[in-house]
Amino acid sequence: MRFTSSLVASALAVGASAGNNYLGFNSGATLADRSAKFKADFTAEFKTAQGLKGAPGKFNAVRLYTNIQAYSQDDPIQAFEAAIDTQTSVLLGVWASGVDNIDNEINALKKAVSQYGTKFTDLVIGISIGSEDLYRNSVTGVKNKAGVGNSPEAIVGFINNFKTAFADNPLGKIPVGHVDTWDVWPNATNKAVLDAIDWIGVDEYPYYENGKGNNIKNAGNLFDHAYDATIAAANGKPVWVTETGWPATGPDWDQAQPSVENAKYYWDEVGCRKLFNKTPTFWYNLRDSNPDNTMKFAVTKDLSTTPLFNLTCPTTFDTNPSSSSDKPSGTASRPTGVTAATATSGSVSGTGGSAAATTTGSRSGSGTVQKLSAASYAGVAIAGVYALL
Ligand SMILES: *[C@@H]1O[C@H](CO)[C@@H](O)[C@H](O)[C@H]1NC(C)=O
Ligand SMILES: *[C@@H]1O[C@H](CO)[C@@H](O)[C@H](O)[C@H]1NC(C)=O
Repeated sequence: MRFTSSLVASALAVGASAGNNYLGFNSGATLADRSAKFKADFTAEFKTAQGLKGAPGKFNAVRLYTNIQAYSQDDPIQAFEAAIDTQTSVLLGVWASGVDNIDNEINALKKAVSQYGTKFTDLVIGISIGSEDLYRNSVTGVKNKAGVGNSPEAIVGFINNFKTAFADNPLGKIPVGHVDTWDVWPNATNKAVLDAIDWIGVDEYPYYENGKGNNIKNAGNLFDHAYDATIAAANGKPVWVTETGWPATGPDWDQAQPSVENAKYYWDEVGCRKLFNKTPTFWYNLRDSNPDNTMKFAVTKDLSTTPLFNLTCPTTFDTNPSSSSDKPSGTASRPTGVTAATATSGSVSGTGGSAAATTTGSRSGSGTVQKLSAASYAGVAIAGVYALL
């Protein structure tokens, strides 16, 4: 029995990080007015995250969607400097939708490593090659006009590109993952991606699970069902929850209603009961930055350290663990590309309206951002995913 050194190295890296149940938020490259975030913007975010009153732990990790400073070709994102200054752990992201290579992402990250050295690399806890690309690429994503994604073959190619480019780099040993919506993982057509990664990132939004009784009181059950399906598909690989949350304001979505009270209930029943300090968790979100999403997910206003609701965890919960094995009727998968792009990465392209048609246009290396119209959120998920489970 022979292991290559890289296999052993990645196994060790996974082992090391698996023990640390990071708490963090997601952070895109741009603000709500689509302007670039600079170092001061990221620093303000990271300080607020760490200073949140009543938080059930220290939110001193962040998940990024791109290595590239917004609107630049391949300059390192200034979040890196802010992370160094605030000692924030970084889950790196590579933007992989609607692109045929990740060269600029690789260049930006290599520049950061040579510029900042171990001050930076010591904070890096992993990297996700892509974010919801397979969801956008799926029949559900296409139906929902979630925007241009990418194929499993392309994602595997990018994973290999990253590993080759960083083989002799200090970041060569970080655990490599891919983030996607939960229904992507049991899909056998995506297995090559699962096989290529060290850890699985899952984005889960019971709020968007229309047709499944997505009222707030059922949110914990819907979360558990999707989470369990992901764990079952994961084949023993660690599962990190890379996005989850409930909006405090915005329109209803089937039975789901945004409100501060419901956002608090979701925080308790999903975050406190199931995730915080139990598994690496990146909550959605500290700050809203997707101008096209009318649902607002921020847990605080204007980066105040006084949150919208009491973040302290209760000791008892409503969600009955046994009911999570009851498969909800109806369909799978949230119907949106809502969080991924605009909340997130680099340069803005596209023109809103019919989101699926808008991926071209000015695309810089920092990843194309889709503007998603309300129409993007409409539509229903396909039936039959449960048949795969
Ligand atoms: C399964 O994954 C493939 C490849 O990503 C995708 O084309 C297909 O639509 C997915 N199937 C479902 C039911 O989502
Ligand atoms: C916040 O919630 C916790 C747990 O339920 C409770 O003990 C605490 O008193 C609450 N704090 C405030 C300010 O309401």
